[in-house]
Amino acid sequence: MVNDRRPDDMVRITNKELAQAFIDEQIAALREQIGNKKVLLALSGGVDSSVVAAMLIKAVGQQLVCVHVNHGLLRKGEPEQVIEVFRNQMKANLVYVDATDRFLDKLAGVTDPETKRKIIGGEFIEVFAEEARKLDGIEFLAQGTIWPDILESEKGIKAHHNAGGLPEDMKFELVEPVKILFKDEVRIVGECLGLPANMVYRQPFPGPGLGVRCPGAITRDRLEAVREADAILREEFAKHGLEGKVWQYFTVVPDFKSTGIRDGKRTFEWPVIIRAVNTQDAMTAEVENISFDLMQLLVKRITSEVKGVNRVLYDFTPKPSATIEYE
Ligand code: XMP
Repeated sequence: MVNDRRPDDMVRITNKELAQAFIDEQIAALREQIGNKKVLLALSGGVDSSVVAAMLIKAVGQQLVCVHVNHGLLRKGEPEQVIEVFRNQMKANLVYVDATDRFLDKLAGVTDPETKRKIIGGEFIEVFAEEARKLDGIEFLAQGTIWPDILESEKGIKAHHNAGGLPEDMKFELVEPVKILFKDEVRIVGECLGLPANMVYRQPFPGPGLGVRCPGAITRDRLEAVREADAILREEFAKHGLEGKVWQYFTVVPDFKSTGIRDGKRTFEWPVIIRAVNTQDAMTAEVENISFDLMQLLVKRITSEVKGVNRVLYDFTPKPSATIEYE
């Protein structure tokens, strides 16, 4: 029988042995719960849904159907990694939906941050539900709910059930194999299941993705600039030993242009803002002290490699007064 709540005396999973024992127990429980039925999972490529996918692949193999919706707001290389890890390496039954045009068309001209979030969330549910309707005989819906989600929803801080958003006629029994785990435990379990370290130890990434890092109305060219600059920042942070040390780091491309000069000619292009912060719980945050040498390297690479960008700025503002994200 699976535990519905985290037992008070549960030992914190801090090593591979404890993780393996948890995995063995869960796999047996999942097989008992699911039998020979089919399970559906929205696989975003984030830590929690990836670990749930890896666990279910071990437990029920091809009875799991993963749906990866690419909303066009993911980081460079992310959809490719989901396909490589889950379809090619783990042999998962993976439905990949490139819904980029659908999302970007709906978002065209929308400037209000909360409206943007609602459109992204609503469209996600719609695309996912459409895919689910194409499948026969699904009885279960797997979710990457974790223990802090349950505690926070009990305290009324946030609602976590993705299933809550699905249309009324789509009723599934929930499968939540990591729901009694804390985040650090989910990561160890994920590693033990054979997921790549850069997938289980990745920094937090908001559901609306790069959409909130492209403030105001999203355009494809500015979105591309955010994505390319972010990829350079992540590459250089990894090379300089900051990956896994800095809590969250990313780029923002605001919707204004300034003059510059390139090859003796005047330019009129966007700036890239770099944000790198440390925090315990994201309620407050301090800015990372990036070395001047690394900043200069980032400026050089971003201004020469990212199309449409002629300046790089560093955001020195802690939370408060600023939030971590720009929208
Ligand atoms: P802020 O900007 O409020 O962010 O200081 C705190 C943390 O929450 C993340 N964040 C989000 N995550 N959906 C998410 O899943 C969202 O709409 C969202 N907004 C902010 C942010 O990346 C940071 O880690």
